[in-house]
Amino acid sequence: MHRLFVAIRPPEPIRDLLIDAMDDSPDFRWQDDEQLHVTLRFVGEVDRPLANDLADALALIRSGPFELRINGVGRFEQRSSGALWAGLEPKAPLAALAAKVERACVGVGLEPERRAFHPHITLARFGRASKAEVQPYLSRNATLVSAPFEVTSFTLFESQLSRHGAHYDAVAEFPLT
Ligand code: 2AM
Repeated sequence: MHRLFVAIRPPEPIRDLLIDAMDDSPDFRWQDDEQLHVTLRFVGEVDRPLANDLADALALIRSGPFELRINGVGRFEQRSSGALWAGLEPKAPLAALAAKVERACVGVGLEPERRAFHPHITLARFGRASKAEVQPYLSRNATLVSAPFEVTSFTLFESQLSRHGAHYDAVAEFPLT
């Protein structure tokens, strides 16, 4: 089985900006450079034929390049864990591309995504014990912004989970032209 997701890789200057915003707080498990991405659709575990069908369907998506910029930071919190993330603007072109990816996923037989789309780049994950550090981090980085950058492709990734964290391999890249 293959654990897949569809995402946008930000360019190096944007990843550098995000890495610079990762301070030495020991409470957060910071993402590595190669883990930084904007998820368009988490697919989950699929077998090889379905993975191939999905790659074929993604290749049929027609969408032009667009600009994004980093704007601010935020958090997702569940009872015992959470994530710090950088936000993205504007949402409209990202949501439009995510909707096309969603149609491709449903078209090959995947269950529809029920959760709302919140464009973000996860910067770190944290556990229950670190929650007190979250608000100070968000306040310190409230003005995190980047220059606009052009999105010229999106990528099908495979996620390999291990004791050392998640490793992401690009399976196929799809140009936006
Ligand atoms: P996150 O960064 O907000 O946690 C690979 O796991 C990517 O898919 C991650 O960026 C993760 O988003 C995203 N994702 C979305 N839904 C997920 C889920 N139910 N399980 C694991 N990852 C998910």
